[in-house]
Amino acid sequence: MATAAYETNSARYARCIQISKKVRWDIDDDVIRGRQFDTTQKFLPDGLSLIGEMTGLDAGEKRFMSQIQGRTYANVFGLVERFINAKVLEISRDHWFGDQVALEALIRFSEEELKHQEMFRRIEQMAGETMPAGYRFLPDPNDVAHAVLGKSTWAVLALTCHIELFTQSHYTRSIEPDENLSELFKDVFLYHWKEESQHAVMDELEWRRQDAAMSGYERDSAVDDLIALVGAVDGILQVQARADVDYFTAVVDRRFDDEETTALRETVLKAYRWQYIVSGVQHPRFAAILGELITAAQGKRIGTALAPIL
Ligand SMILES: [Fe+2]
Ligand SMILES: [Fe+2]
Repeated sequence: MATAAYETNSARYARCIQISKKVRWDIDDDVIRGRQFDTTQKFLPDGLSLIGEMTGLDAGEKRFMSQIQGRTYANVFGLVERFINAKVLEISRDHWFGDQVALEALIRFSEEELKHQEMFRRIEQMAGETMPAGYRFLPDPNDVAHAVLGKSTWAVLALTCHIELFTQSHYTRSIEPDENLSELFKDVFLYHWKEESQHAVMDELEWRRQDAAMSGYERDSAVDDLIALVGAVDGILQVQARADVDYFTAVVDRRFDDEETTALRETVLKAYRWQYIVSGVQHPRFAAILGELITAAQGKRIGTALAPIL
């Protein structure tokens, strides 16, 4: 890497450390603050849960659906942060005997991700205490991490950058006016976003660093890996959307006919695709970086693969 680029990147890592120190928060003292979830409130904002589109549900049922989705949100983040942290620790090796500022920034990133996993475990447990038995989160975080980490680092960093950018969109949704939204869940979005903003900057730096060392052939194969990873995420969302609707219809005290159940499954899957795929793919920063790194033909390949999801 040219000296000038090295220095510029070092300054960006230094800025990440500086902001990380400034925004640093504690799970109990800042986020939870002795609060419990209140079942008269929604957990996810309507802009993420899409409960407004579930026209067959009454207000209480919509609220319960947003709570189930909130619980799944905590579980999905606990899952993705498992592989994100492992990848960050792996790539930090490249800086062991190089830029010590970059190394410190990535170690802080890893430590924050461990804290986030703990926060989401706490949120899952607290959400569970307010809900009837029967909820299940089906994917196993370690199985997913092993599968993801088998793909090229370029693709894993692209997926990670996309995830860490969409946490910013999710935070924005949580502060949009939305009646009767849990203050505790709003704080989960707020505090998570504060640290994820630096992670997204580092994802970009590391993604570009990997990219600069690759041949055209390697990058072309990494594009296939990225398509496979997004497909795997979608597979997880399909399974969990179905599980969440099954739980919802089992717990809610009325019968849902086949048509209503199918419509609910479709809308919950649409909401999960929106939350975990589309809000990232459409993030302007993600689209800009990816557009710079790939060819038009590769972009078309990704667009074709994503078309059924978007
Ligand atoms: Fe996180
Ligand atoms: Fe993160």
